[in-house]
Amino acid sequence: MNFSMPSSAPVVTIDGPAASGKGTLAAGLAAALGFHLLDSGLFYRLVGWKALDSGTPLTDEVALARLAADLRTRFDGEAVWLDGRELSQALRQQEVGTAASKVAALREVRAALLHAQRMARRAPGLVADGRDMGTVVFPEAVCKIFITASVEERAQRRHKQLIEKGLPSNISTLLQEIGERDARDAGRDVAPLKAAPGALEIDTTKLDASAVLAQALAYCRPRLKSTV
Ligand code: DC
Repeated sequence: MNFSMPSSAPVVTIDGPAASGKGTLAAGLAAALGFHLLDSGLFYRLVGWKALDSGTPLTDEVALARLAADLRTRFDGEAVWLDGRELSQALRQQEVGTAASKVAALREVRAALLHAQRMARRAPGLVADGRDMGTVVFPEAVCKIFITASVEERAQRRHKQLIEKGLPSNISTLLQEIGERDARDAGRDVAPLKAAPGALEIDTTKLDASAVLAQALAYCRPRLKSTV
């Protein structure tokens, strides 16, 4: 692992529960601002996938932290490689999301992934999406957003995404899994999902992606200008 210093480029953080539209908003903001993009959930999904693949129990904190510290990843556009295997589709499976949420509750796993996330900060700026971007990973971010949507709406969105990708999906199973994931991500002791103080909160239940992006840009642009 490279332990060089992260940069001081401006950061926009987007936190929120599963399937709330974080990924779509983060990609839209990064494109509009010309910033880099960090999907921090991918790190937890990679650890979850590797744990399932290697048969490591999802409760073995020491083994999972070692596995997290030793991730050999390569990101190439949408493609994610781990130990020479292309995993972009595999990482999106619901089972991997659930494993990710379980390993993400472990303090040592989170500590092992912190530096790699901070190293994603590069000029001209970074849009970072996850659960603790504004509270733990980039508390000094100039612009923080917290997005939510009803659990029913989020289950519908995830269902549509999975079907579009040709992956199996069942709406009532999704509702249950998302509900359980929310409870685990928000209820854990370490870096629980919550809005950072001062964050702009957007409920996306009844908004389309372009309306959410417009609100976020109106909020961020003046804040980003004041940093340069
Ligand atoms: O955003 P996602 O669905 O890809 O995230 C998968 C899981 O990873 C999520 O349920 C909780 C965990 N996670 C986290 O704890 N902290 C982050 N910053 C990002 C994801």
